[in-house]
Amino acid sequence: MSIKTYGEPVLRQKAEPVAGITGEVKKLIEEMKKTMCEAKGVGLAANQIGIPKSFFIAQLAREDEVRAFFNPNLLPLTDETEKTEEGCLSIPGIWVEVPRYLKVRLTARDIEGNPVAVDLEGLPARIVQHEIDHLNGVLIIDRISLAERRRIAKELAELKTSA
Ligand code: NI
Repeated sequence: MSIKTYGEPVLRQKAEPVAGITGEVKKLIEEMKKTMCEAKGVGLAANQIGIPKSFFIAQLAREDEVRAFFNPNLLPLTDETEKTEEGCLSIPGIWVEVPRYLKVRLTARDIEGNPVAVDLEGLPARIVQHEIDHLNGVLIIDRISLAERRRIAKELAELKTSA
């Protein structure tokens, strides 16, 4: 399993809802976990591995296991945002300052199809906002300032030609 990088059209596709969590999907999740861990990431969305379906995996805390979230939805719990450096496995080597809500509520289905609702703050809130962006075809480079865009323009262009 390989991670799609910037320039590949699937990263810009809006993910379709998942109808049912089949055995095949569960196998896929296991493979995604391996791929994400090898890449030392904390989150991986389905379209990053070429599948435009609405699910992602994430490790929300260091001591937490990697969990899968299907058909996720996000609700900001505050207007307050924070700008912090963020990277993306699909945009390797590029780090940019991305504003994110400080607190969000994530609702989704877990791997057994059960509803989950969690309130997150800080880094885990940031991670799920990043992954849900992926499922909407949105990348970190879409959320940065003009100055940041200029700073990374050359690297980004190089990345695109190598995709
Ligand atoms: Ni990413």
